[in-house]
Amino acid sequence: MDQGKQITLPLLMSVGTAVIGSLQFGYNTGVINAPQKIIENFINQTWSHRYNEPISKTSLTAVWSIAVAIFSVGGIFGSFSVGLFVNRLGRRNSMLMANILAFISAVLMGFSKMAKSWEMLIIGRFVVGLYCGLSTGFVPMYVGEISPTALRGALGTLHQLGIVIGILIAQIFGLEAIMGNDNLWPLLLAFLFIPAVIQCVLLPLCPESPRFLLINKNEENKAKSVLKKLRGTTDVSADMQEMKEESRQMMREKKVTILELFRSPLYRQPLLIAVMLQLSQQLSGINAVFYYSTSIFEKAGVEQPVYATIGAGVVNTAFTVVSLFVVERAGRRSLHLLGLMGMAGSAILMTIALALLDQLKWMSYVSIVAIFAFVAFFEIGPGPIPWFIVAELFSQGPRPSAIAVAGFSNWTANFIVGMGFQYVADACGPYVFVIFTVLLVIFFIFTYFKVPETKGRTFDDITAGFRQTSAMAEKHTPEELNSLGADSQL
Ligand code: GLC
Repeated sequence: MDQGKQITLPLLMSVGTAVIGSLQFGYNTGVINAPQKIIENFINQTWSHRYNEPISKTSLTAVWSIAVAIFSVGGIFGSFSVGLFVNRLGRRNSMLMANILAFISAVLMGFSKMAKSWEMLIIGRFVVGLYCGLSTGFVPMYVGEISPTALRGALGTLHQLGIVIGILIAQIFGLEAIMGNDNLWPLLLAFLFIPAVIQCVLLPLCPESPRFLLINKNEENKAKSVLKKLRGTTDVSADMQEMKEESRQMMREKKVTILELFRSPLYRQPLLIAVMLQLSQQLSGINAVFYYSTSIFEKAGVEQPVYATIGAGVVNTAFTVVSLFVVERAGRRSLHLLGLMGMAGSAILMTIALALLDQLKWMSYVSIVAIFAFVAFFEIGPGPIPWFIVAELFSQGPRPSAIAVAGFSNWTANFIVGMGFQYVADACGPYVFVIFTVLLVIFFIFTYFKVPETKGRTFDDITAGFRQTSAMAEKHTPEELNSLGADSQL
């Protein structure tokens, strides 16, 4: 096998352990939907117990919405704080440390029923949101940094695979016959304890990112021995060479704060791309499906909406696997474009199906097909790619800050869709997906004109391409261009 494409056991084990964090993110995204009625009952009971009167409809909706949405608020804070940890503790230890939050949250949510406190549930959701926000920064960064260039996309997609499997597990566990019932729902929410324990056992066996060791810590020997293990070969000179080149560039860049990231013209282009790709992921409307699919299917006249929702979870997982296998061949840019276009088409089909439902009953089947296609196209590109491409667009210096800003944009957009969709859906009726269609087309045009292909290119080569674009925009002289290291093409 080609040396650069070697999947070794230590590499697989490290990536596999890291993406337990992604699984937690998916699980907590999906877990709260199925047991909604049951948890609302609990809120009502505790309220009556305390105040001797049943909770009003408005207060119940408010408490429930807060419990759902506070998860993304935690995510916003968590993702924005990534930079505080990764350079001090290292990538691996940051992931390890974050599990404290997972344990705290599991205890809070798991005992909320016993303690008759819905406040504990809300705080628990916030804390696990913090954990997931951190994970969406830590995991793609660690995976990107330990992967060989030729496999960075495929292994990067495993982050998304972890997420979608987490969602699917939550959908299945949430069935009434399993844990989505009166007695077991606290266990359903506290289940995150188990993956957290597994991750804490396995992480100490995984190596620190060699890029962090060499570039941030200047520990060349350690970096070399980690690389040998990860690559399964004694000759790691090409990797070392490339990292040293990045290190040399970093002497100039140093560590870049979030403020500097916004100020420097050097990062304007990649930052815009990173943020727009995150927005294209969330404003595509995917979580309108994952948060509200059961009610969308219900409105579309589907008889067993819960099973249709699980069907969407299965399609979601299957197509992430497809993307995993084609991303190194087809490239990020083309898959993202294909995904956005396909989603726009599916959204139009969905709109037609919903609009004609009253005249033609069989349109409910068309709506299922449309949602499944929408989800499938999402996982081809817009699902996995934005998560790992940010690590590719920036070098070691600005990478943590860039990942923080990108994560922040992603979680904020997630929050807006999560909170806003129901209101907009009520106002627009069957035409709600038209809004997403328009946004999808805008993101398609942006991607077509602005996003470069990063497949098969080293980090250094990618950032050099941006340096050149930025230098040309600033009209630097050829000498200045040279001194900026702009020697390769986008
Ligand atoms: C992506 C999104 C997440 C969404 C999931 C669906 O990971 O970031 O918000 O729920 O895909 O598969």
